[in-house]
Amino acid sequence: MKLKDSQAVTSFNYGWLLKRIFPYIKPFMGKVILGFIIAIPVGLLDGVVSFALKPYMDYVIGKTDIVLWNYTIPYSYLAYAMPFFIIGFALFQGVLRYLNSYLTDWTSLKITNSVKQDLFSRLVYMDTSFYDQNSSGIVINRYLTDPDTASRGIVDQIKTIIVSFFGAISLIAVMIYSSWKLAFVGVIVLAVAFLPVLLIRKKIKSVSNQNTVIVGDITTTMNETYSGNKVVTAYNLQERQIEKFDEGIKESFNVLISLTKRVGWMSPIMYLIASFGIAFVLYYGTKLIYTNQMTPGSFASFVTSLLLLYKPIKTLGNTLSGIQTIFVALGRVFELFDYVPKIIDKNNTDKSIELTYGIKFENVNFSYDNEKTVLNNINLEIKKNETLAIVGNSGGGKSTLVNLIPRFYDINSGSIKFDNTDIKEFKLKDLRNNIAFVFQDNFLFTGTIRENIMLGKPNATDEELYNAIRASHLDEVIYSLPNGLETVLGERGLTLSGGQRQRVAIARAIIKNSPIVILDEATSALDNESEAIVQKALDNLIQNKTVLVIAHRLSTIKNADRIVVINDGQIVEIGTHDELLSLENGQYKHLYEMQFKNNEVTV
Ligand SMILES: Nc1ncnc2c1ncn2[C@@H]1O[C@H](COP(=O)(O)OP(=O)(O)O)[C@@H](O)[C@H]1O
Ligand SMILES: [Mg+2]
Repeated sequence: MKLKDSQAVTSFNYGWLLKRIFPYIKPFMGKVILGFIIAIPVGLLDGVVSFALKPYMDYVIGKTDIVLWNYTIPYSYLAYAMPFFIIGFALFQGVLRYLNSYLTDWTSLKITNSVKQDLFSRLVYMDTSFYDQNSSGIVINRYLTDPDTASRGIVDQIKTIIVSFFGAISLIAVMIYSSWKLAFVGVIVLAVAFLPVLLIRKKIKSVSNQNTVIVGDITTTMNETYSGNKVVTAYNLQERQIEKFDEGIKESFNVLISLTKRVGWMSPIMYLIASFGIAFVLYYGTKLIYTNQMTPGSFASFVTSLLLLYKPIKTLGNTLSGIQTIFVALGRVFELFDYVPKIIDKNNTDKSIELTYGIKFENVNFSYDNEKTVLNNINLEIKKNETLAIVGNSGGGKSTLVNLIPRFYDINSGSIKFDNTDIKEFKLKDLRNNIAFVFQDNFLFTGTIRENIMLGKPNATDEELYNAIRASHLDEVIYSLPNGLETVLGERGLTLSGGQRQRVAIARAIIKNSPIVILDEATSALDNESEAIVQKALDNLIQNKTVLVIAHRLSTIKNADRIVVINDGQIVEIGTHDELLSLENGQYKHLYEMQFKNNEVTV
């Protein structure tokens, strides 16, 4: 799945999306609803001020006493009461507003977190090919930013809608109370003013999709600048990085501004329509006052309500287009949820792994893209506890071949078997538990050396740990560090040299103690001296193991029980070092003459 190509087709399926997000809202439903309920009075209180204007104008300004049933209240009481009323009202509304934002923030953060956690727990199980196809930037954007936009927004926007809606309702109620005739005109004008919102949602979706890709690219540039900082500096690529970054920023600007071009006129248009309404109301209202059909107080209430109404209406307008963005993000989020990795456990597999005879490749064909064949009809058997060296031309398919055993990729046809059981019959977890992999460049996690080694076997005893450290020749390294085993490695384990990093990785593999060991150019990146010691560590790792080793050093290759030569995706020769050397015009002999012979480690 290429994240870049996402169309987020479900973005307008509001019902479906709400149904999907509902399980995440459900655990916090009580608080969500409470928040929404509190939002109602917060909104309704909007009308109080304009409502209070009527008695204030008619009694206090008009100096008329108030007659309630049989009591007469002097107008001055109302005048004195007003300031207290205003402060009390502000206090009340303040408390409600606080409660409301606390509840909505709390719930929306909780909801966002559970969506993110769920997404992340899917991300870590994605196929290797998923990581091949998608850059870090778009993954971060889709797995972190989208759920933020989507689930935080949803509660927040619903709250805003409720507050604005009830704000509008209360103001409209005051208007109707003041003069239903005028209110009628006002409401119709407003309804018309809203229509444009519906016209722009497609544009919002396409802009949001495009912008996700662009922001993903920007993040990738960021990550590459970080990870590739040495290359950037060494090749003076700073300008290039700046250009790439600027390009992304510019592109994002253009896309977003194209939306503003479309959306930006909405608000002025709504305003214009509203001003027609206000103009008419003023004209008509004056007429009603002159003909004594309305008191000046009612009119003041009405006009204030109408003016105040602009705010919640504008907020509603903005929220309605904002909520489109949220639904588009939600669409993208649930698209991720629906992507299931292709490489998964078969139903009801509980076959335990026992390697008695060995690993067998039978007529294996493989292609990364279903176009270019990378491995062509591979038949190969690795006997238990045998060490098989794999050599061949660069790009010939050696790494691909070994990557198929832990099922980083699934083959197109044929089968790979442990004894007589297809590896697809095993649980992925079991399969990978049985294999220790050492790559050319091994990733060390942020954490201590101890933690990095223990990743191979989290419940290892101290004895196992020290054995692994000794066997990987890490002891001298650890002794030389002031914090020893507790030395914290940087984000990329930068404080260690290549050979030292490699030995940490080998210690991790040794402590894992799995029956199958795969070494993919584990020493290729090292200088002769580090290579010699890493080689010793590797020798300890592969004792009594079934081993596949891709190597370019003669000693490693010679020590292997057998050697297979893979050129351009095909097995061309297989046998012992001596057997293969004796082949006249043999491929191995050729490689040996050209490469291995002169490539020996001198210790
Ligand atoms: N992740 C991948 N996606 C697509 N093609 C790949 C991938 N990895 C390797 N290839 C291609 O597969 C072929 C074999 O690569 P590889 O197995 O890495 O060769 P080797 O390890 O023998 O140098 C090459 O043509 C390479 O370009
Ligand atoms: Mg390779």
